[in-house]
Amino acid sequence: MTITYKVNHPISAQQLANVFEQSGIKRPYDDLKRLQQMINNSSLLISAWDEQALIGVARSMTDFSYCCYLSDLAVISTHQERGVGKKLIDLTREQIGPSCNLVLLSAPNAMSYYPKISFTAASHAFFIPRTN
Ligand SMILES: CC(C)(COP(=O)(O)OP(=O)(O)OC[C@H]1O[C@@H](n2cnc3c(N)ncnc32)[C@H](O)[C@@H]1OP(=O)(O)O)[C@@H](O)C(=O)NCCC(=O)NCCS
Repeated sequence: MTITYKVNHPISAQQLANVFEQSGIKRPYDDLKRLQQMINNSSLLISAWDEQALIGVARSMTDFSYCCYLSDLAVISTHQERGVGKKLIDLTREQIGPSCNLVLLSAPNAMSYYPKISFTAASHAFFIPRTN
């Protein structure tokens, strides 16, 4: 299986919904209008493709200068554990360069994943959760 990766390649809300739903990540995949806004207002979208099928995404908001928030990292279940998630992170890091922090909130089931791919857990992070 050959996986190809693209930077800021256009994707549809339905394609993103499919990746979210088939990865198991908790995201509003039945709200295509909201997903379209998420796509429109991202500053960096790395996508992974198996032939013509979108199989993984890393979606970030960044200034490409100082900080980057990685909001969504998802790989569909049939393609997990093959290095796709790690490659999506590597390409995100390549795009933002060494002057940017890369920050994320981990899902409970991924808490032991991020230390494996170079992330350091932070005890000084704060956030205000969304209410809907
Ligand atoms: C978490 C996720 C993005 C990882 O992507 P992936 O392509 O399956 O992961 P990789 O193949 O790059 O894994 C790299 C390493 O981490 C391990 N790993 C993968 N998922 C893991 C998890 N959830 N917890 C701990 N380790 C994990 C792999 O076994 C591999 O280890 P190895 O190098 O010793 O072989 C993917 O499993 C996913 O989409 N999960 C559901 C959605 C989710 O939880 N996203 C994270 C939201 S914060």
